[in-house]
Amino acid sequence: MITVEHLYHSYGRNDVYAVKDVSFDIPKGEVFGFLGPSGAGKSTTQGILTGLLRLQQGQVSVAGYDVKNLKNSMFNRIGMSFEQSNVYSKLTARENLQFFAKLYDVPTRDPDELLKLVGLDGKGQIRAGEFSKGMKHRLTFARSMLNNPELWFLDEPTTGLDPAIAATIKGIIREQNQQGVTVFLTTHNMYIADELCSRVAFIVDGEIKLIDSPKNLKLQHGQSVVAVEYGDDGKLVSETLSTVDAQGRQRLQDLIASQRIRTMHTKEATLEEIFIQVTGRELV
Ligand SMILES: Nc1ncnc2c1ncn2[C@@H]1O[C@H](COP(=O)(O)OP(=O)(O)O)[C@@H](O)[C@H]1O
Ligand SMILES: [Mg+2]
Repeated sequence: MITVEHLYHSYGRNDVYAVKDVSFDIPKGEVFGFLGPSGAGKSTTQGILTGLLRLQQGQVSVAGYDVKNLKNSMFNRIGMSFEQSNVYSKLTARENLQFFAKLYDVPTRDPDELLKLVGLDGKGQIRAGEFSKGMKHRLTFARSMLNNPELWFLDEPTTGLDPAIAATIKGIIREQNQQGVTVFLTTHNMYIADELCSRVAFIVDGEIKLIDSPKNLKLQHGQSVVAVEYGDDGKLVSETLSTVDAQGRQRLQDLIASQRIRTMHTKEATLEEIFIQVTGRELV
């Protein structure tokens, strides 16, 4: 669905690159996460893939289109939501969706149904200018679904939203993906990446450091320890045991044999810990 080869982008005339030699492939049906701290080059990459920024260097194909010579018909097939809400303040929420729906040459979804989906039911008559930041963000998100896109670009889709609304948005992304929509998702939130993405790319300073599934990453970087809680003279005692060394394994077997274990969990590294291990950087 997306092929990117040796992509570079510079905002100035100097040799400072916001995106450096970035390459990746996204097959149909995947939720691909672009995970990295602020300033890593995520939005720049999305901008180039969606034709908002001119392609300077590299090869990019999106839904079968070469972004060097973009055709309008591509925009009928993709959806995009950006960090900055782009809606008309003077139009009502419903009018905004009606306006943008007219730009497509394909059947579009009912504005009121979309407003309801993102938790803005009953707000259709209100001017977007009166909306809170979170509401504008949701309106922008709803707008990105108007044309039933088969490829969906989402830049920080849950940033700044309260947890309940963020959960709704996550649910919508998951459901769209189950219906076959391919998703390119950029975020600095590792929970979202972990929950939604089939594969993630770690991006720092404009460069991809690795691409893998969250599951593989956790298996590879897992700590191989077991945390147990057991009863001892009426008290609950916790112990963390390595399953790699012989002593830890023996201790674990003894505890199991003693039948005093109340809880037992294998511990895996979180995606955030792995990100720090691999890139040496925090996800902020
Ligand atoms: N319009 C712009 N002009 C100049 N520099 C920019 C512009 N947009 C982004 N940058 C710079 O490019 C780098 C990558 O930014 P961006 O793609 O927005 O990162 P991210 O989305 O990962 O936070 C940053 O150093 C940022 O300051
Ligand atoms: Mg960004």
